[in-house]
Amino acid sequence: ARRALTPQTLQGKKVLVSAGPTWEPFDPVRFITNPSSGKMGFALAAEAARRGASVDLVTGPTTLPDPAGLTTHRITTARDMERVVRTLAEEAHLVIMAAAVSDYRPEEAAPHKIKKDDEELTIRLVRNPDILAGLGKNKKPGQILVGFAAETEHLVRNATEKLQRKNLDLIVANDLTQPGAGFRSDTNVVKVLDRFGGVEELPCLSKEEIARRLLDRIESLGAR
Ligand code: CTP
Ligand code: CA
Repeated sequence: ARRALTPQTLQGKKVLVSAGPTWEPFDPVRFITNPSSGKMGFALAAEAARRGASVDLVTGPTTLPDPAGLTTHRITTARDMERVVRTLAEEAHLVIMAAAVSDYRPEEAAPHKIKKDDEELTIRLVRNPDILAGLGKNKKPGQILVGFAAETEHLVRNATEKLQRKNLDLIVANDLTQPGAGFRSDTNVVKVLDRFGGVEELPCLSKEEIARRLLDRIESLGAR
């Protein structure tokens, strides 16, 4: 019913959204991850689809079902996500990286379950590729790139630095210290920073409402 009432403002647009955490294994049954639920990215993908876009959602492991009316691609590691996102970004008018990509992965994954043979276990981590920075380097003419910034201090300063360094059009700054913000919550508290220096502070809202407001904002940016 909602779809029928939603103006098809993204008709003819290809939208790519990433969501969820990544899992970085160090043996067949253990991995490094973070508490991302995928809700923010799924809400953005579903809202873009409602507005008539052709949507690809690339998500790490979550308990959420595939949203209706779009294509969901399920991946596990950051390197898997990079491969899929890179390919799909070639054609996308708009890319929103809402995924909580693991910055590091274990250097090696043991082929068998690690036994507790020793008193200590050291796992060496190596850097994962920065998927969004890679997209920023290869930004297509007219393509809109949107990132998230998860911070516990110096929110605006750190988010602005990421916006510039990754060549983004918009960054959604997430203050993880605010009640009702961040990872597992159904709500979020964000500041939206654009490449022209504009800062918009949103109150605590449901992730669905944040998705609507962000897409409104992105649509007005496209028209500039
Ligand atoms: N991101 C990415 N690939 C990574 C890490 C992050 O594409 N390997 C994206 C996220 O999806 C998000 C943005 O970059 O849109 C910012 O993520 P964040 O973790 O806040 O920043 P980082 O650049 O990873 O810096 P740091 O964690 O050191 O603050
Ligand atoms: Ca990070």
